[in-house]
Amino acid sequence: MRINTALVAGLAGLVSLAQAALIRGDATFTGSNVNGGTCSFVNYTLPAGVSGVGIGPPNWANGTKCGACLQVNGPRGSVKVMITDSCPSCAPNRLNLYEDAFRQIADPSDGIASVEFDIVSCGIGSQLWVRNKVGTSRWFFSMQVMNANYPVTALHVSTDGGNRWEATVRRDYNFFEREASGGFGQDRVLVRVSCSNGRQVILPDVSMSEYSESRAPANC
Ligand SMILES: *[C@@H]1O[C@H](CO)[C@@H](O)[C@H](O)[C@H]1NC(C)=O
Ligand SMILES: *[C@@H]1O[C@H](CO)[C@@H](O)[C@H](O)[C@H]1NC(C)=O
Repeated sequence: MRINTALVAGLAGLVSLAQAALIRGDATFTGSNVNGGTCSFVNYTLPAGVSGVGIGPPNWANGTKCGACLQVNGPRGSVKVMITDSCPSCAPNRLNLYEDAFRQIADPSDGIASVEFDIVSCGIGSQLWVRNKVGTSRWFFSMQVMNANYPVTALHVSTDGGNRWEATVRRDYNFFEREASGGFGQDRVLVRVSCSNGRQVILPDVSMSEYSESRAPANC
């Protein structure tokens, strides 16, 4: 029974690999800069086995792919990286990898390498969490999602125990806010994070204090 399950999972993996649309592009490299990246991942430690990357327009897409992980295949190997930064000078489909990531897929003395890449799960075993921006309160809502296995597609807030969910908009500095600014008028709210793999994670009791972090019960 266990063997059958493993076999089915393995076949499903093969099918999804075969169907994955690898994007062709190229890669350069830069210093690692998790804290200073435009995704605003301050004080964040990248997951084990994951390096970082900055991407240029149009891939940057106003920060909507912040935190997404890419599998990158180069001439010398593969590496997994998380999008932590933009790269305004990058051509379309150019990845500006952290130097340690570039070393795993190509010869640094080449400076640039042809690559193929695709969005994959970050493979994080622990939960995702949310963090409030400086100035967050019952009068001003600004929240980012960190450590999610798949790209975050939406963040909703409920002030009535989950009956009604209000949408937020993602700013290009990777914080979700109310479209018309302002807050939700409460010191604690429910937060619902939606991910690109279709999963939703609800945080049942989130503080509206600035810098506050709340761990979700699960990951995407
Ligand atoms: C980062 O960590 C420092 C030191 O613990 C803290 O003072 C600062 O507020 C943190 N920044 C954020 C954005 O949480
Ligand atoms: C980025 O933001 C601009 C200005 O708000 C908008 O016109 C554009 O459609 C956005 N692009 C994406 C990919 O979201």
